[in-house]
Amino acid sequence: MLYHYEVLGTKLVIGKFCSIAPETRFIMGGGNHRMDGSTYPFNIFGNGWEAYTPTLEQLPLKGDTVVGNDVWIGRRATIMPGVRIGDGAIIGAESVVVKDVKPYTIVGGNPAKEIRNRYSPEIIEELLEIRWWDNDIEIINQHIEAIVSGDMESLRKMKTRR
Ligand SMILES: CC(C)(COP(=O)(O)OP(=O)(O)OC[C@H]1O[C@@H](n2cnc3c(N)ncnc32)[C@H](O)[C@@H]1OP(=O)(O)O)[C@@H](O)C(=O)NCCC(=O)NCCS
Repeated sequence: MLYHYEVLGTKLVIGKFCSIAPETRFIMGGGNHRMDGSTYPFNIFGNGWEAYTPTLEQLPLKGDTVVGNDVWIGRRATIMPGVRIGDGAIIGAESVVVKDVKPYTIVGGNPAKEIRNRYSPEIIEELLEIRWWDNDIEIINQHIEAIVSGDMESLRKMKTRR
């Protein structure tokens, strides 16, 4: 996670059961310079220039970065500030994600574009309702075969056991 400064009040939120490959980078809003005039950070060099330290309002912050549950992020992906990645999404290796990613969508490239949906809209809706990741670990253990294989019939039973 780069350019994260608590004073800015933005967070990186990561859901459950996410796989994040090495060299993934989350660029946070603190990396953004003012862009309404010179982008040079005069203020950090002192000598009176600290008077030109930008206010939070002047900085182009983008809010929290949010990664859903059961998300797989491929090697060396870069996630830009304020992006929201939906549950079950897959981010291709070397991608630069600049826009929100819908649940259960595979995206890739720079800028990352949709490659395909992982399931039909109806199944995606069901999976988002089931939210298997919110169950107790004992229940998850009992349904591990269904979880790893995407066996909807068994996953539907899991939903009713919650
Ligand atoms: C994204 C990914 C999961 C897609 O796998 P897939 O569904 O088998 O995809 P395919 O190889 O059939 O490619 C489908 C399309 O996506 C494109 N594509 C695949 N991976 C891509 C990537 N990382 N960036 C941009 N485009 C990508 C292909 O060029 C192809 O495009 P086309 O339809 O225009 O020809 C896979 O390519 C990937 O990047 N995996 C990450 C691996 C990794 O980093 N693992 C780290 C260890 S956890």
